[in-house]
Amino acid sequence: PAQDGTASAYTYGNLDVEQAYDLEHNDWNTTSLSVVVVGASGDLAKKKIFPALFALYYEGLLPPDFSIFGFARSKMTDAEFRDMIAGSLTCRVSAKDKCIEATEKFLKRCFYSPGQYDDAKSFSELNQRMGEVERGSGKPRSNRMFFLSIPPNVFIAAAGGAADYCSTKTGWTRVIVEKPFGRDSASSAALGRGLAAHLKEEQIYRIDHYLGKELIENLTVLRFSNLVFEPLWSRQYIRNVQVIFSENFGTEGRGGYFDQYGIMRDVIQNHLVQILALFAMEQPVSLNAEDIRNEKVKVLRCMRPVKLEDTVLGQYRSRVHGGRTLPGYLDDKTVPEGSLTPTFAACAMFINNARWDGVPFLLKAGKALHTRRAEIRVQFRHVPGSLYKHKFGPDLDNSTNELVIRIQPKESIYLKINNKVPGLGLRLDTTKLDLQYGNAYNAKELPDAYERLLLDVVNGDKRLFIRNDELEAAWDLFTPVLHESESRRVTPELYPYGSRGPVGAHYLAAKYGVRWG
Ligand code: NDP
Ligand code: BG6
Repeated sequence: PAQDGTASAYTYGNLDVEQAYDLEHNDWNTTSLSVVVVGASGDLAKKKIFPALFALYYEGLLPPDFSIFGFARSKMTDAEFRDMIAGSLTCRVSAKDKCIEATEKFLKRCFYSPGQYDDAKSFSELNQRMGEVERGSGKPRSNRMFFLSIPPNVFIAAAGGAADYCSTKTGWTRVIVEKPFGRDSASSAALGRGLAAHLKEEQIYRIDHYLGKELIENLTVLRFSNLVFEPLWSRQYIRNVQVIFSENFGTEGRGGYFDQYGIMRDVIQNHLVQILALFAMEQPVSLNAEDIRNEKVKVLRCMRPVKLEDTVLGQYRSRVHGGRTLPGYLDDKTVPEGSLTPTFAACAMFINNARWDGVPFLLKAGKALHTRRAEIRVQFRHVPGSLYKHKFGPDLDNSTNELVIRIQPKESIYLKINNKVPGLGLRLDTTKLDLQYGNAYNAKELPDAYERLLLDVVNGDKRLFIRNDELEAAWDLFTPVLHESESRRVTPELYPYGSRGPVGAHYLAAKYGVRWG
């Protein structure tokens, strides 16, 4: 039952949450849970982590004795910390009054302990504080989960502080690490070694929040539980696959971070490659995390590293629109003058295995484009010897089937098919078999990706987290092109804020006979 007395009907993955609680290490009758947000004063903590924890609490998905601890350098009292969190919470649900009551109860479980990320004493003080609260719950055992929501320069120090001074002796200690996981293969390996010095691989949860999105979780269901898709899922029927990420806003204040990474590291190497791996992998032996991750690594290792000639880089420039000047990337005060960092990138990738040989996978990501959307587009081949070829004129591409998996916004899955226009005579048009989540499931607000992922950490389910060898394989695909473009100081093609991006992306697609969807 939920803390507010309502019953929870939420089922997740293979585990009913109540069942999950009964697992060996999650016997919440005898065990408390402490969630520590390291970097609690930061943007991600306020924007995503506290709201997700609150939503889980509200849905009755956190164990009865849970507490939240904030840790950061900023000085705050518990009361100030609670005020800060309160300012970041919204009531997703319609029952507003119940939500307000739940907020008050939730905030009472939040505590703050200030400290330095590289200071043993600060972590010992945090440990002491946690011990006091945990003992107050009356439960003899405690599980502890740390979310490192801090810049990468303090990752290892903080992981060390958490592991060496705050590990629980009576349950599990798990540490969630946020991207960026390094800047290339070498720095990622160094980060891996740094974490491994303090933590076992099974304790590390590398988060890629795209894996927590509803339609990405659904990818395996769509593929492996429907007879109609899996037989078509190969070079025999698929002409190309596009994975597209587009945002209609710029770096806006995050330029300092972004400029050190660029869009290829920020979005393509992780979010889009993870989607590609799930899309293209072979059927796993089971839904077990290791079986799924084994297949993802296999497919990544079949890919050849991206080539510079198969890459288009862009950067947005300012544009006057409707009497307003939309700022260019270089107008962002946090961006160094003359920066060549790409805010847009498109690349063609190939998987050298029997299933996908020769099929272009086109990945595209950009900031400050004309629209906000993320989707997978699967373009199928022409119907051989089609009886209706003449009905579509010379541009046969218009008549090929296309499957679109819209990750966001307005989650949907639709298949473009050719259909007879009703009436006398024979006229064909292309229309959609359309599954709109909003209509089909009355799902106006799906759980945020962070809710799903945090719950998975509580349940010890690693299906949606990145294993070290997956990360290595993903970096191996991009490190050469990143190094080459940076050492040659490749100038990104400028595109106006709010446009469709650089024209070069169309030439790249055309090189492989593809038209962007
Ligand atoms: P912030 O820049 O807001 O930093 C988080 C906290 O870390 C700050 O509140 C600050 O706390 C402390 N901090 C900031 N700079 C430094 C520094 N140079 N040295 C030591 N401590 C510092 O980061 P975000 O919250 O935006 O992101 C946290 C992590 O999550 C990062 O790794 C980021 O890349 C990743 N991420 C963020 C996303 C976002 O949307 N924000 C999206 C995806 C990933 P204090 O001064 O109180 O110690
Ligand atoms: C983050 C990137 O990982 O994902 C950001 O660092 C990007 O640059 C964000 O804006 C997009 O996430 P979402 O869930 O809003 O699509």
